[in-house]
Amino acid sequence: AAMARQEPATLAELNRIILAAEPMISGPPVPGAAQAVLGEGPEGAAIAIVGEQPGDREDVEGRPFVGPAGQLLTRALEEAGIERGAAYLTNAVKHFKFVARGKRRLHQSPTAGEVKHYRWWLMRELAFVRPRLVVTLGATAALALTGRSVSVLRERGPMDFGEWNGFVTVHPSYLLRLPAGEEAERAYRDFVADLRRAREMVE
Ligand code: URA
Repeated sequence: AAMARQEPATLAELNRIILAAEPMISGPPVPGAAQAVLGEGPEGAAIAIVGEQPGDREDVEGRPFVGPAGQLLTRALEEAGIERGAAYLTNAVKHFKFVARGKRRLHQSPTAGEVKHYRWWLMRELAFVRPRLVVTLGATAALALTGRSVSVLRERGPMDFGEWNGFVTVHPSYLLRLPAGEEAERAYRDFVADLRRAREMVE
């Protein structure tokens, strides 16, 4: 049977519920790790940006998009003319999922079931923020918004998310995994072009 969940009246109340909840990802296998990383940015932001899940740095600092992928995103937003502080940044999954390898914590992709579980929170969060456009970074965020598996490289661009005007693009961690060179530079320019187009959609 579906668990009855508290219906929050405000974003602050929703955030308190998220902070108090147990991680719904499998693991983490080490005690004391994985705090909830909440969304960041103003309610009423024109653009909401949805990532996959917090990474190692985000889990330590308790803020979204502060690690390597987040720094690349911040730079790309700036180049696209989107002020990071004016956007609402959040993740499909609110806890860092990883396996411990010695002292390192290696990122693990969330399962479709885990994404579905966290979707309940994400939908309420977006309902409080009421962005004019929801930009998803990578396949996990696109899955959370569409309920289906999206090929982000083939389907990038504007997409109807039903309740939301959507825009699908790649995840900055994909850019970080490309070997340095022309292909990586082109992929980064395409990412900035996507963000610029998203910005133009809300102007
Ligand atoms: N990658 C994400 O998807 N979200 C973050 O917050 C950081 C890295």
